Amino acid sequence: MFQGGGSERDSFSSKFGVIAAAAGSAIGLGNIWRFPYVAGENGGGAFLLIYLLFIAAIGIPVMMSEFVIGRSAQLNAVGAFKKITPGKKWHLVGLLGVVSAFIILAFYTVVAGWTLEYLVQSVKWMLTADKIGFAEMDNDAVRSFFSSHYESFVSGMWRPMIWFAVMMILTGFIVISGVKNGIEKYAKILMPILLVLLLVLVVRSLSLEGSREGLLFLFKPDFSTIKAAPMKIIVEALGQAFFSLSIGMGTLITYGSYIKKKENLASTAVSVAFADTAIAIVAGLAIFPAVFAFGISPDSGPDLVYITLPVIFQSMSGGLIWAFMFFLLLCFAALTSTISVLEVIVAYFSEQLKMTRKRAAILAMVSVSFLGILCMLSEDVFAVFNGSPDLLLPLGGFFIVVFIGWVLSGDTTKGELSSDGKYKTGYYKIFMFLVKFVAPLAIALLFALGVYSKVITLFPSIG
Ligand code: PHE
Repeated sequence: MFQGGGSERDSFSSKFGVIAAAAGSAIGLGNIWRFPYVAGENGGGAFLLIYLLFIAAIGIPVMMSEFVIGRSAQLNAVGAFKKITPGKKWHLVGLLGVVSAFIILAFYTVVAGWTLEYLVQSVKWMLTADKIGFAEMDNDAVRSFFSSHYESFVSGMWRPMIWFAVMMILTGFIVISGVKNGIEKYAKILMPILLVLLLVLVVRSLSLEGSREGLLFLFKPDFSTIKAAPMKIIVEALGQAFFSLSIGMGTLITYGSYIKKKENLASTAVSVAFADTAIAIVAGLAIFPAVFAFGISPDSGPDLVYITLPVIFQSMSGGLIWAFMFFLLLCFAALTSTISVLEVIVAYFSEQLKMTRKRAAILAMVSVSFLGILCMLSEDVFAVFNGSPDLLLPLGGFFIVVFIGWVLSGDTTKGELSSDGKYKTGYYKIFMFLVKFVAPLAIALLFALGVYSKVITLFPSIG
């Protein structure tokens, strides 16, 4: 068994700390910004059903595999593979994860920065509501007010960059503070607040007249949408499942390496996946009823949260207070995710390239910022970065399950999952069946479909 790491290695201090940190990574813009619009574009309930299937059959096994790799090796994503299979090429999987971390952190921090802009703006809109004249506007006028604000904000130069920098510095500050005194500490504060804010919003949204239709959209599968574009829906559901659970790029290998031997990895993975899925559904519950109550189309894409929601908030009684709350929540959710992505790079730099934590963090922040600037300058770069997790994460996930299924010794895996006999592992056979056969085959098939459908969108003549 691999018992690495000296006593100086930082770790999470409690079970609640582990779950808060890992759920903090999983729950983010992916749940509240991405899930509702991707579900909205792909037919709502039908998408949800496929998504749930992927979470259970592929997502949880991948997550457990990452925890096993990280905790058994006690190292970052690259170092872990090097230690377990010295002299082999497996560490390239870790390196792919680090590359994915750069790409994801770049566009993700851009969108996270928008939450800060909206946080500040919602206070300003509240204070100047009379001057703006919201009361005299009809829904269309309010919509064009918010959409022209969004357009001019995202196409501007300085404001997005300033908010990007603020978000990056907050992230860096927490990561530099360490695992226990940074990542765990802030996750334990921010996650409970997030939950309370979200529940308040759901109650508000469900109490709107006409919210029933939104519920039906989210929960009643309309299979005709699957028939119309089955490939796209399935590929996007898999990509969304990976993105939302933070799997396939070593985030949870890295976090797993900070989990103490006494914690139960399987139950942690199930709790995190459950929390992540519950929050995505609850975010849908907060958003779709309101969308339908105001007669807005649910498939309005990435700007659903930044244009549609402010319109809705503005027209509700209490109005922009709700907007402020919502963007605060979104900002907290994003922050506990950006720290987990940065940690992948920082753990790699500091352990493999022997840098101090601080130096590693600063180097990572500066280099990611260059990519971030590209995303802010070019909509095309942004779209490519935003779409790339759909392929990169399943690719990483494929190798991770194959590694557990076919490379790592069964004794090591079982030893980790049972914490050396402390916990029962009655699920072990099913787990092994999933990681050996089901998950690799399903991911490979969907990956091929995904590549094919991306090629077709680029070169329609082939299809
Ligand atoms: N899971 C995060 C979210 O849903 C995003 C993320 C992806 C974080 C990959 C870490 C790694 O917002």
